Amino acid sequence: MNYETYLCLDQLLSAQKPQSVAHKRPAHDEWLFIAVHHAYEIWFKQILIELDSVLMKLSSDRIEERDMDVVVARLERVNKIFHVIAGQFDILETMTPMDFLEFRDLFTSASGFQSFQFRLLENKLGLRPDDRLTYREKPYTADLSPAKSRDVQAAENSATLFNCLDQWLSRTPFLDAKEFAFWDEYKRAVDLMFKQDESFVCASENLNETEKSQLITNIQTQRQMFSDLFNERAYEEQRTRGTWRLSYRAIHAAFLIQLYRDQPIFHLPFRLITEVLNLDSHLTQWRYRHALMVKRILGNRMGSGGSTGEKYLRETTEKHKIFEDFYKLTTFFIPRSRLPQLPETFARQLDFAFKR
Ligand code: HEM
Repeated sequence: MNYETYLCLDQLLSAQKPQSVAHKRPAHDEWLFIAVHHAYEIWFKQILIELDSVLMKLSSDRIEERDMDVVVARLERVNKIFHVIAGQFDILETMTPMDFLEFRDLFTSASGFQSFQFRLLENKLGLRPDDRLTYREKPYTADLSPAKSRDVQAAENSATLFNCLDQWLSRTPFLDAKEFAFWDEYKRAVDLMFKQDESFVCASENLNETEKSQLITNIQTQRQMFSDLFNERAYEEQRTRGTWRLSYRAIHAAFLIQLYRDQPIFHLPFRLITEVLNLDSHLTQWRYRHALMVKRILGNRMGSGGSTGEKYLRETTEKHKIFEDFYKLTTFFIPRSRLPQLPETFARQLDFAFKR
């Protein structure tokens, strides 16, 4: 075995086949266009390998602590890859719109829309079919080969990162601690915070009556938002409408972990949530970067796959979000100084330190 055979370089390097060369009207930039797409697909493949290993560990009913470290490390790797590949659009942008038009007609209706690896990635992360934008009233799998379409649909119905996280969060044991009923305590702390804020506003000598009434109205609006979150029925109604996606128990755990992230036992779970947020933001940045590049190269032209082009891609940056709940949660964080104090006995359960 040598470098060439180990890496199957003959296959890899003979896969760039510009249509412009085949049609005897060579367009220099088509080499770049193909190389950049190939580079992306290879990175998508690596991301899928990492994600599959993460899903394998997270989909188990019981996750060992040492596995959590691996899960976090692999998601961190996925994020590093995303960071690097978002920058690769810079290279493609050295191709001008006129250079692109030299060969655009030759790949006819081929489009990134048919990237089955990208669809697998979206589905394995947890993008639901009903949340997808559609165009030409066809399912997003319509232009995939039957085998690829089956794989992509199978991923819709298998373990997804979103569902695994939801289930893992719901299993958090500390939510049921006898010493500390977290959700009730949190409700009380929020209520106290608003009462103190209201008293502060009413007693203030620096505010006139109009300013006071404006501030009291703001506090009441916030109170209402919190009370919708604290009421399970209201939460479930919002969930049915699609405002929230996480289960109610998972929401509680996500709060507990993030509000008390200084506690040793929450360090890894907190990092996991952070990596998931990073992943969501990287994917959105990728979509946005791609959309911007498309606008620069295609203007308002339709895509080769038949969509509205840049408009469709820009809309996916908003509509195809998967982990939005984790961002929304922060609306309901309160300052550390106003959090309920953890009882000593409970705090000890969250500590790894060996104490005599
Ligand atoms: C000159 C460069 C490019 C242009 C003009 C372009 C254009 C487009 C357009 C217009 C779409 C929307 C679907 C359609 O109607 O065809 C699309 C989708 C897509 N493209 Fe590109 N693209 C370019 C480069 C790339 C590269 C380098 C990749 C990397 C793999 C890529 C991956 C994708 C993916 C995955 C989609 C589906 C996005 C979704 O449905 O959310 N594109 N592209």
